[in-house]
Amino acid sequence: MERLMGRLTGHLTGRRRSRDARAVVTGAGSGIGRSFALELARRGGSVVVSDVDEPSARRTAGMVEDAGGKALALGCDVSDADAVATLARDAADWFAGPPTLVVNNAGVGAGGDLVGEVPLEDWQWTLGINLWGVIHGCHVFAPLLREAGGGGIINVASAASYAAAPRMAAYNVSKAGVLALSETLAAELAGSGVHVSVLCPTFVKTNIIEAGRITSASGSLAGTLMKVTGMSPDRVARTCLDAHDRGALYVMPQLDAKATWELKRHAPRLYTHGAGLLERVSGPLRTDHATKGH
Ligand SMILES: NC(=O)c1ccc[n+]([C@@H]2O[C@H](COP(=O)([O-])OP(=O)(O)OC[C@H]3O[C@@H](n4cnc5c(N)ncnc54)[C@H](O)[C@@H]3O)[C@@H](O)[C@H]2O)c1
Repeated sequence: MERLMGRLTGHLTGRRRSRDARAVVTGAGSGIGRSFALELARRGGSVVVSDVDEPSARRTAGMVEDAGGKALALGCDVSDADAVATLARDAADWFAGPPTLVVNNAGVGAGGDLVGEVPLEDWQWTLGINLWGVIHGCHVFAPLLREAGGGGIINVASAASYAAAPRMAAYNVSKAGVLALSETLAAELAGSGVHVSVLCPTFVKTNIIEAGRITSASGSLAGTLMKVTGMSPDRVARTCLDAHDRGALYVMPQLDAKATWELKRHAPRLYTHGAGLLERVSGPLRTDHATKGH
């Protein structure tokens, strides 16, 4: 039904938003954000490539230009509301108008400890970037797109937004918030010409583990799973932009993301018991809580 509605909306609005876009991508200095920037450029777009790490944003912008696209690199910490407002102003100046597509992608990994052990500072750091960063992006850009009468917003959540794994509370909560915000925004913008998608991948081969605040034992387990089962960020970006063009709200680029979505919806207790069992079996393997990525 969701797919049918999406197709219908896509046909009615009659536009492939990922083509010739004036796009803003946050967290575009690495991983999925960089792939979004490169793919949007391949589709004829001009891209504002922003990241808290400005040199990495400049590297992505260079890659976009080498591939024949147009890019502007800007430093922006999405956890800072004023910085996101400045990003929107600078992007509008460069485009000489509002953007047509915004990808709220910037995010960090966090995990390894049980609720009660996770330092409150880590909760604040994770929610500050993963959730507040997307709130800031939607707060600033949604009114601009609505006023322009069209465009797209892609919020990058995670399969963790609907399937909570133990020892990842702050990350799970941040991504559940991004999912709820995206669903709200999609309803509020229905009929406005602005389409919202929320990307919910499982593992993607990026730097998120190395750059995150993850206890080393959990990190090495997740790192191995990522290497073995992870999808390439290029494929995730392509799949997501195609789904966005078809009018999809939920984008689960992998089979395991789709299967977990179905399991969680139709057998939520089975999912929770299974996740708890996995935690009890793998818990003793996690002995090292000393090393953090910060
Ligand atoms: N890699 C995965 O397996 C996976 C799975 C599901 C969802 N995601 C989500 O995908 C998004 C991109 O992550 P990735 O896997 O490409 O990781 P990554 O670490 O490769 O890239 C994240 C980028 O975000 C930037 N960033 C970090 N804090 C920022 C801030 N405060 N302001 C602006 N930029 C900031 C980093 O500098 C980096 O360039 C995140 O939201 C992440 O939660 C990733």
